[in-house]
Amino acid sequence: MSSLHLEANVGDIAETVLLPGDPLRAKHVADTFLDDVVCYNKVRNMFGFTGYYKGNRVSIQGTGMGMGSTSIYVNELINTYKVKNLIRVGTCGAIQKDINLGQVLLAMSASGDSDANRLYFDGMHYAATADFDLLLKAHEVAERLHIKTYKGSVFSTNTFYDNAPNRWEKWQKQGIFGVEMETQILFTLAKRFGVKALSVLTVSDNIITGASTTSKEREQSFNDMMKIALELA
Ligand code: HPA
Repeated sequence: MSSLHLEANVGDIAETVLLPGDPLRAKHVADTFLDDVVCYNKVRNMFGFTGYYKGNRVSIQGTGMGMGSTSIYVNELINTYKVKNLIRVGTCGAIQKDINLGQVLLAMSASGDSDANRLYFDGMHYAATADFDLLLKAHEVAERLHIKTYKGSVFSTNTFYDNAPNRWEKWQKQGIFGVEMETQILFTLAKRFGVKALSVLTVSDNIITGASTTSKEREQSFNDMMKIALELA
């Protein structure tokens, strides 16, 4: 049996799945970090792979950008493939001046503008939060690997392009550290279905200062983020 958007057979996907937005990143991680890799999905080029990291079985599945696309894969991974731990690995744009580019962030919670979240809760607001066990474990792994992490809250938006002036000011004042497009729906769906979720992010740009990372800096912080996430398998 497979699902609507994934052609894997039940059992092909590990209990712990890492979720980058970009399917080619999923391929890169599988090629770089995993042993005995099998590609289980090519539908829509949204590649998914299962392999072993230090002997532990782990999968890595592209989600596409935004909460609409992410929610499709998260729903199917949980409900058809019985995945238990879902860990987003992605980038965000910082909205605090003092957050460095390349910094690795562990999202404790996610605010956002997703209509899905409003529809699920009759217009009321659910506080989408990370799973504490995964968060604690990620913190401990990062300390052991001497990778500095910043913990805080993100904002997940469905509109990358919006020219509204001072768009992020109220969220900056509320202490939100960065903006991305997937974490809120991941946290909401994981809790809805009784599984665990975490979001590990690196800062690719600073929306307030306009600074952005070079490809070399991106590679270093990307590898740090991946090492933390893979240790959670
Ligand atoms: N907006 C939304 N998502 C992002 C951004 C951004 O500026 N940077 C990285 N992911």
